[in-house]
Amino acid sequence: MSELSNRRILLIDDMPSIHDDFRKILAPPQAHSAELDEMEAALFGEQTQPERPIFELDSAYGGEEGLGKLNLALQEQRPYALAFVDMRMPDGWDGAKTIEHLWQQDPQLQVVVCTAYSDYSWDDLLNRLNAHDRLLILKKPFDNIEVKQMANTLLTKWEMTERASLQMHHLEHLVDQRTAQLKQASEALQREIDERKQLEGQLVQSEKLASLGQLAAGVAHEINNPIGFISSNLGTLDGYFQQLLTMLDAYHSAEQVLAGSQTALQLEHMREQIELEYLREDVPLLIKESKEGISRVGQIVRDLKDFSRIDNNQEWQWANLQQGIESTLNIVASELKYKADVVKDYQVLPEIECLPSQINQVIMNLVVNAAQAMGPERGTITLRTGTQGETAWIEIADTGSGIAPDTLQKIFDPFFTTKPVGQGTGLGLSLSYGIVKKHGGDISVSSELGSGTTFRVQLPLRQTRPAA
Ligand SMILES: Nc1ncnc2c1ncn2[C@@H]1O[C@H](COP(=O)(O)OP(=O)(O)O)[C@@H](O)[C@H]1O
Ligand SMILES: [Mg+2]
Repeated sequence: MSELSNRRILLIDDMPSIHDDFRKILAPPQAHSAELDEMEAALFGEQTQPERPIFELDSAYGGEEGLGKLNLALQEQRPYALAFVDMRMPDGWDGAKTIEHLWQQDPQLQVVVCTAYSDYSWDDLLNRLNAHDRLLILKKPFDNIEVKQMANTLLTKWEMTERASLQMHHLEHLVDQRTAQLKQASEALQREIDERKQLEGQLVQSEKLASLGQLAAGVAHEINNPIGFISSNLGTLDGYFQQLLTMLDAYHSAEQVLAGSQTALQLEHMREQIELEYLREDVPLLIKESKEGISRVGQIVRDLKDFSRIDNNQEWQWANLQQGIESTLNIVASELKYKADVVKDYQVLPEIECLPSQINQVIMNLVVNAAQAMGPERGTITLRTGTQGETAWIEIADTGSGIAPDTLQKIFDPFFTTKPVGQGTGLGLSLSYGIVKKHGGDISVSSELGSGTTFRVQLPLRQTRPAA
């Protein structure tokens, strides 16, 4: 017998004689006795199992008592498979009400209603119990084989229903499991897609940067040459002019010899016309300014070269962070000029092992973001640096718009931008994040809406793994 097999039957009837009849039919007294068993064991040499009664019959003499027994059976997890319920029970619940209660507790229970006559028409009863397809009717006086067959058939039905429902549960469980697996797979896929997108973004950006860097480096190199000869020429020119002045002074003294002559008058006239005295003062000034200008161009070119230095070999280099910050600030000076004052609060930093042009790129992104966060009013961007243990840190604090808390979680996502098309690509921070992580560092942000934002970049002083 399988463990699903259930032979438990509950009989609810107010007449004790009916219980006797049922017991005779469904649970006849055992043919075995202990004595017989012993004899059998002696004869056949094995312990015979007492034959199980075909049915396990319990009695209740009213609806309420029946419900009590059903509940107990449920509690003990030994539910009844079948109940025979008498229709007419003068005290307490009648059959219909009893069945209603039984089914409320245990919808699986198979029920046979037994009756000689009823207070309901059959249709009313079936309607009331909503049981056109699940209630059998046994009319008194009943036939033994009818009762036995009903019991047999309904117990098998109970078993099959139970089996089906177990299988259903199993299937549901399987479906849940598969759904969960599918969900996991789809989440993993989404993560992969996101990562890929981010990598793609970084690639696009670093391609752009690399070609920009190459261009800048090329232009810087080309400009360097003319800057060189212009500034050297300016130096020479300065010297020549001093010599010319000496010569002019000499001529001026020689003019005394010609005093009063026509020529002297002409010279005097010319001197006034070209404002010689003014020229003497202005030319050196012009030369000085030009020298300053060209030296500034020289500085810009050097910054550009420094900033865009292409780390061809992608190997860590020892670099001065401070220098990187300064050249980066020079590069973005025009972006900052009308937006904010820059305050510098630096501590002396040792050289750190990094990819310098990429770190410059991070600083530039943060500084440009800070400038772009300013409203119509001029703000302040404060740059702080320092070291802490084995790390160097840079802080870029602005007095700009600040970032709303729900936006804050998204700012490092590739392509996330709150800026109008053309102004923002949404790649600056995701790229910076990637660069800092590649350095084994960390980038964090704290912000207050309406007051400003501070980004903090932490970088290890030295690297332990290869850069590539
Ligand atoms: N200093 C800052 N102040 C306010 N918002 C900022 C700041 N830095 C970044 N953000 C927010 O983060 C978003 C993403 O920045 P970023 O990745 O550099 O892309 P983009 O600048 O092209 O928009 C910005 O659009 C902006 O909303
Ligand atoms: Mg940006």
